[in-house]
Amino acid sequence: MFKTDLLKDKVVLITGGGTGLGRAMGERFLELGAKLAICGRREEVLKTAAAEMMALHGGEVFTTGCDVRDATQVDTMVADVWKHYGAIDILVNNAAGNFTSPTEMLSHRAVDAVLGIVAHGTFYVTLAVGKQWIANKHKGRVLSIVATYTESGSAFVVPSAAGKAAVLAMSKSLAVEWARYGITMVCIAPGPFPTPGAWERLMPDPSLHEMAINRIPLRRVGRHEELANLASYLVSDQAEYINGECIRIDGGEFIKGAGEFSWMEQLTTEQWMALSEKSKKVGK
Ligand code: HXC
Ligand code: NAP
Repeated sequence: MFKTDLLKDKVVLITGGGTGLGRAMGERFLELGAKLAICGRREEVLKTAAAEMMALHGGEVFTTGCDVRDATQVDTMVADVWKHYGAIDILVNNAAGNFTSPTEMLSHRAVDAVLGIVAHGTFYVTLAVGKQWIANKHKGRVLSIVATYTESGSAFVVPSAAGKAAVLAMSKSLAVEWARYGITMVCIAPGPFPTPGAWERLMPDPSLHEMAINRIPLRRVGRHEELANLASYLVSDQAEYINGECIRIDGGEFIKGAGEFSWMEQLTTEQWMALSEKSKKVGK
């Protein structure tokens, strides 16, 4: 759906780019001509992913181990990527941690584990890359992957909801503050896109999957290529004027939850005929 040179020679750093949605976006960026750098904690996972991605799509995938919760590791990682490619053009904040749990069952270490990756880690990487862009007078684009519950909050994933809301606030704030340096920000809020990393932690029992799908008006989960294509457009020069926005891609799940009468989708045609007869008689 795009010209094959849409991202030609753009250097894209994707945190958590060795698995799941980070890898799906990376593969699409490679197809569109980008040069990739991916980081994560597990170096073996990164190396295997990079080899497979290059075999499938050609191009170059540079890997570097990094725990984004450690600001020193982040600074080293960003410096290594910059040195390797001579610049970074696009940062995709994709690394995250999450699991479902009643909040009162969480220890403070569990809270820190999620907020450390999502809020602090995302901020550290954005700050390190942003400082390089400003010092080198280099334009930059940041895409942060958040979640639909940044607006609403969500029960049972409270540290993630708080962390993703922080990422959205950071993105909107920097969209204004750093625009004068040619640095722009955008977010994607995905609904459910099955990946082993998310699915096994959030819905460890497969019986929960059907319940999750029934919440979605389209009655299906997202396809990785749908997210990867949206991300490709949003990181491209074509989308620069979209600054400080968050784009939801969830098959209508979020607005269904908010719609006062959405629950009426359960009614059968017969029930609607009967209700219609009754309501037509009101006031007569
Ligand atoms: C309660 C838990 C827990 C769980 C861990 N903890 N899992 N508490 N329920 N399911 C607690 C531990 O007991 C420990 O506390 C503390 O959290 C730290 O655990 P560690 O295992 O030592 O942490 P660590 O190795 O740093 O791993 C971080 C992690 C893990 C966040 C806990 O899940 C991870 O590595 N996640 C990365 C990938 C990921 O989460 N992907 C999914 C993203 S999906 P104590 O007190 O015992 O020491 C997403 C969007 C979803 O974000 C939206 C869907 C629509
Ligand atoms: P995933 O495969 O578990 O991806 C998470 C990635 O982050 C992994 O590659 C992981 O690698 C990396 N990571 C985690 N902690 C890290 C740390 N401390 N330092 C560096 N890297 C770290 O899950 P996913 O489903 O693809 O999620 C990708 C993004 O989409 C996340 O931001 C998530 O919140 C968002 N999202 C997903 C869904 C969905 O339905 N899948 C929905 C909404 C939003 P290591 O473990 O090797 O570090």
